[in-house]
Amino acid sequence: MKYRTLGQGLKVSAVGLGCMGMSHAYGRPHDHREMAGLIAKAVDLGYTLFDTAEVYGTAANPHDNEELVGAALEPYRSRVVIATKFGVSFDFSSPSTNKPILVDSRPQTIRRSLEASLKRLRTDHIDLYYQHRQDPNVPVEEVAGLMGELIAEGKILHWGLSAVDEATLRRAHAVTPVTAVQNRYSMMAREAAEALFPALEELGVGLVAYSPMANGFLSGRYLGTAGFDPKDDYRSVMPQFQKEAVEQNRRLLGIMNEVSAEHGITPAQLSLAWMICKKPWIVPIPGTTKEARLAEKAAASEVQLTPGEVAALDSELASSGMSAVFGGSRIVARN
Ligand SMILES: NC(=O)c1ccc[n+]([C@@H]2O[C@H](COP(=O)([O-])OP(=O)(O)OC[C@H]3O[C@@H](n4cnc5c(N)ncnc54)[C@H](OP(=O)(O)O)[C@@H]3O)[C@@H](O)[C@H]2O)c1
Repeated sequence: MKYRTLGQGLKVSAVGLGCMGMSHAYGRPHDHREMAGLIAKAVDLGYTLFDTAEVYGTAANPHDNEELVGAALEPYRSRVVIATKFGVSFDFSSPSTNKPILVDSRPQTIRRSLEASLKRLRTDHIDLYYQHRQDPNVPVEEVAGLMGELIAEGKILHWGLSAVDEATLRRAHAVTPVTAVQNRYSMMAREAAEALFPALEELGVGLVAYSPMANGFLSGRYLGTAGFDPKDDYRSVMPQFQKEAVEQNRRLLGIMNEVSAEHGITPAQLSLAWMICKKPWIVPIPGTTKEARLAEKAAASEVQLTPGEVAALDSELASSGMSAVFGGSRIVARN
């Protein structure tokens, strides 16, 4: 495993572990003991960045993931970076598979969320605390000001924003310097994240890439939605897994297979190495619930693609044509 430094001096593994799928969005929550074993193995393999959020859970247990991650990381607390998020909840009353997101970043809500997250995560500080989605009713300056207070109090060490645009990032960073932006970024979702690169470079802010394998699609192992339960698996409604996408993505998967074979790596590793080799401040946080897949992802941090090879891949991606990719759940503002 290689390591990188994000924003205001936060050292993390060059590949982090996204823990969401253990509790949320990809079918039923997984057994805590089994996932604790997987997380222990990840620590063993050199992973130090673990990503969760207060809302990764189900109607039955809305905070399942923080509970799981907190218990699993307790023995390793001093060696790992815990990233979690505040500011949203899910509307579990909705009949849709992917539940609408309700936003709330009022300062009193954030303080309450933080105390509850600290308890569930069995720690006295959060290493990296993200605003999960912006709240149109609370100016980002107010949130950034509170983050500065929480840093001064020692309750959080760094902060970041998720699904953020450049203008909002600049406003936030001017109040309290930001360590990382966590945005969707993958070979199938390039433009919006890459448009932020000059600002990230200028401000010295890291990019933590979520859904870096396009929700697993870029592993090349899924052709269709078979096995995804429409009751609780968001992949059952994601465009890249639909029947019509098979044809639309044939060329893309062909390129992935060909280039990864040339390098003696898997398509999953290529999808991560491609972004790691672009900038020294990009850190993907792929998700998995399979212990056997941890080493594959960690090894992606060691793959060396030259700038020419990355550029060649970019031009293939630009001309290959591909299906749409999941763009996130609907956001509902608080009244
Ligand atoms: N900030 C936000 O708004 C936001 C939104 C979404 C996600 N996130 C964070 O980002 C993390 C990663 O997102 P993601 O889970 O969508 O990422 P991803 O890495 O693009 O996709 C994960 C999926 O890929 C599958 N997968 C992984 N390796 C595979 C392989 N070799 N072959 C076949 N399938 C494979 C996993 O299934 P298995 O479990 O079966 O391996 C899992 O379902 C999340 O855990 C969460 O922490 C943040």
